Amino acid sequence: MVDDARLAIDGARIEAELAHLATFTEAPPPAVTRVLWTPIDLAGRAFVRSLLEAEGLAIRTDAIGTIFARWEGTIAALAPVGSGSHVDAIPNAGRYDGCYGVIGAIEAVRALRRTGFVPRRPIEVVIFASEEPTRFGVGCVGSRLMTGALSPDAARQLRDADGVSFEAARAGAGHAGDLESVRLAPGAYAGFVELHIEQGPVLERLGIPVGIVTAIAAPTTLRVTVHGEGGHAGALLMPDRRDALAAAAEVVLAVEAAARASGAADTVATVGQLAVFPGAVNGVPSRVDLSVDARDVDGARRDATVARIRDAMRGVAARRQVGIDVEVVTDDPPATMDPTLVEVLAMAAGEAGVVSHRLPSRAYHDSLFMPRVCPTAMVFVPCRGGVSHRPDEFASEADMAAGVRVLAHALARLAS
Ligand code: GLV
Ligand code: MN
Ligand code: MN
Repeated sequence: MVDDARLAIDGARIEAELAHLATFTEAPPPAVTRVLWTPIDLAGRAFVRSLLEAEGLAIRTDAIGTIFARWEGTIAALAPVGSGSHVDAIPNAGRYDGCYGVIGAIEAVRALRRTGFVPRRPIEVVIFASEEPTRFGVGCVGSRLMTGALSPDAARQLRDADGVSFEAARAGAGHAGDLESVRLAPGAYAGFVELHIEQGPVLERLGIPVGIVTAIAAPTTLRVTVHGEGGHAGALLMPDRRDALAAAAEVVLAVEAAARASGAADTVATVGQLAVFPGAVNGVPSRVDLSVDARDVDGARRDATVARIRDAMRGVAARRQVGIDVEVVTDDPPATMDPTLVEVLAMAAGEAGVVSHRLPSRAYHDSLFMPRVCPTAMVFVPCRGGVSHRPDEFASEADMAAGVRVLAHALARLAS
């Protein structure tokens, strides 16, 4: 444990390092696009690694590029306490999602070291590879492999949109070694705490600087293909049509209706991708590929939403005489955060003199999978307007510093 009066968190430095990390982008600033294992992603990770090296931490990189930076404890044999997040960013994103949890964990370690705190347990900063699903269609590939939620064989089957295999892309990024070695040993961590922006509006509306996450919602992700019949937009008469896009439009509305029908604010469902073939102004669409992302913190209620969506698709297929194929891409159960760690975070907020509020996470994180191997919890800070996955994503220096202060107290408690 540390005396709060001696804990100095450098909010300006956090913001400056996030601003520098945001310069590693494929999209024009302020947008950030950093896709797994691209040269930009590797350069951004090298910058973060340089920050860890400057602290003299012992660094290991696993076979897919997840970075582990260890501050040794006085009893090195004890399982470490972990904290960290991701630095990959979806197309046209902002600079805080994931990156705040990485730079914030580094600043928590630096601030603890400045107080002269000596951990009994090691503390490890973890920078996960591949939290976002952009490249291979599956999110959290790193933490899935680490926790056994995805088998190495299933990872080897993954292909990106250009047909590049997971293994070829991994080799291209310079990562070698068996995928099997990514799996964490049981008891590898005594606990894991991830710091993140809320990505929703709750904390800002309440005017509370720190959230303590109680549960993480999980998506069912579906890949849906609607098969109709194409033809000439002028010559194919309306009674003879089996228009794949008109059918897909009904599917999109059915997805929205299915989520609304749950009656719970925590139920959400989205069609975020839609590809129309052949995509000609004067051609009747013959095929549509679309994605469905349905989420809830309550697994049974999420499954009921997905069942309503599947029912509606069967109805659309029958009425419109189209084929609708559905492939389940991910279907993970939601996670409950460890009750003891949640209490540790509440005590840490008290020590930091910060008001906190308990809430679920409606976005997923690597902390959705870490509970499979260790007690896990999350700290949130507000973001302006609840906006995330957009270039105008913003968190204030003061709120980010408050979140890091709570994290530092929690790490000190867990490592003492
Ligand atoms: C992660 O970014 C998510 O989609 O929740
Ligand atoms: Mn994200
Ligand atoms: Mn994130």
